[in-house]
Amino acid sequence: MQFEIIDIDKKGRGVSREGISFRFAYPEDIIEGYIISKRNKLGRFEKVIKDSPLRKNAPCKYAGQCGGCPWQQLKYENQLKIKEEKIKGLFGFCEPIIPAPQEFFYRNRMDFAFGPDFSIGLKDDKNKTLDIEKCWLLSEDSNEIVARLREFIKSSDLRSYPEGIMRHVVIREGKNIKNTILSILTSDKGEFPLEELWEELKDVVQGITWSHNLSPADRSYGEIQKSIGQDYLLESLNKIKFKIPVQSFFQTNTKQAERLIQIITEFANLKGDEKVFDLYSGTGSIGLSLAKKAKEIIGIEENEAATKLSLENAELNGMENFSAIAGRVEDVIKSLDLKSDKIILDPPRPGIHKKVLQKIVEAKPKEIVYISCNPNTQREDINLFLEGGYHIKKIQPIDMFPHTPHIENVVLLKHLASM
Ligand SMILES: C[S@@+](CC[C@H](N)C(=O)[O-])C[C@H]1O[C@@H](n2cnc3c(N)ncnc32)[C@H](O)[C@@H]1O
Repeated sequence: MQFEIIDIDKKGRGVSREGISFRFAYPEDIIEGYIISKRNKLGRFEKVIKDSPLRKNAPCKYAGQCGGCPWQQLKYENQLKIKEEKIKGLFGFCEPIIPAPQEFFYRNRMDFAFGPDFSIGLKDDKNKTLDIEKCWLLSEDSNEIVARLREFIKSSDLRSYPEGIMRHVVIREGKNIKNTILSILTSDKGEFPLEELWEELKDVVQGITWSHNLSPADRSYGEIQKSIGQDYLLESLNKIKFKIPVQSFFQTNTKQAERLIQIITEFANLKGDEKVFDLYSGTGSIGLSLAKKAKEIIGIEENEAATKLSLENAELNGMENFSAIAGRVEDVIKSLDLKSDKIILDPPRPGIHKKVLQKIVEAKPKEIVYISCNPNTQREDINLFLEGGYHIKKIQPIDMFPHTPHIENVVLLKHLASM
């Protein structure tokens, strides 16, 4: 069947005139495809009949198949336009989106699955693991390490789950500080030859960690079994050094994360005498970047390893006014007064717990800087801040993830009483 694509849905898929969503299809395309679920309004794209003027030839041979870059065949200026329009649609206005400094090779982390026949890569939309020889989001060096890992699992006859034990590999590479670590995730149905892999790769990686993923979910997170060498990544942002635990969050686009931190710093506009809460603080990348400009920064973060390293990171950079509490924000605030001058919010995709929103509104900080990688939940949360006496001062979208529909958005909120 033929479909004319007229829009883009929330997940960045092309939407046909009939309301069916197709991955890898873009507005103004005419495509051939078929409907796979009428109820979910989902289709599968087979080929382009007439190219949209928004399209371009992608350099990667897996473009149009691989879930890592669903927008690689969309011209970069059009990707930016769609993202900016999305923010304008949600908030009514925003500053022009800040493009990424690099369109390719920008990621400091990739999570690949192990698949049949010793394949390593991301999945296609039929859930098949693509054997990716060269990923255009990773550096040449990291691609080379993945190639050597592939040879190792092949020669060791390590089969993929569920036939064998191999589930995922995460490669993390410092862009400003040259170091690379690997995290191997397997089922618990056998021993992974960690020492042997280390012998094979120790000239190019600084550490390897082996963990069990016992969850049925396709995720690269699990109970750590053993590490050799570094069990953290070293990276710097605007000259501040960070140790990042092997399984903790860190912005994946280092160069653009530096720009993001500059925007947050501008929005926070600290004078030096403020008490600031950094909620969802991770390894402290935002809090520590602001520490020199504030009197006191207090982070709250649920990941214990990240919290511990945020404190180590404070020491590493000589920041004595940064402290951090390990725990879920919604639990920690039960016995904590959130009274402060400014609050930084950088929650995960689902947004902020309602109890946290309420407690912030009661504490009435003069300003809130809200950073989000999910502008839909950010908008919902901000509606509640608006009801609580805040207004939107500035909105700055920034592109951290070229060739994907993901948007990072920073919003500055000011309390009406402080104006
Ligand atoms: C988007 S990341 C931001 C991390 C940090 N601000 C940074 O830039 O590196 C969200 C963080 O929130 C943490 N997190 C998720 N849910 C949480 C909760 N309920 N309470 C506290 N931290 C939470 C995650 O572990 C993750 O580190």
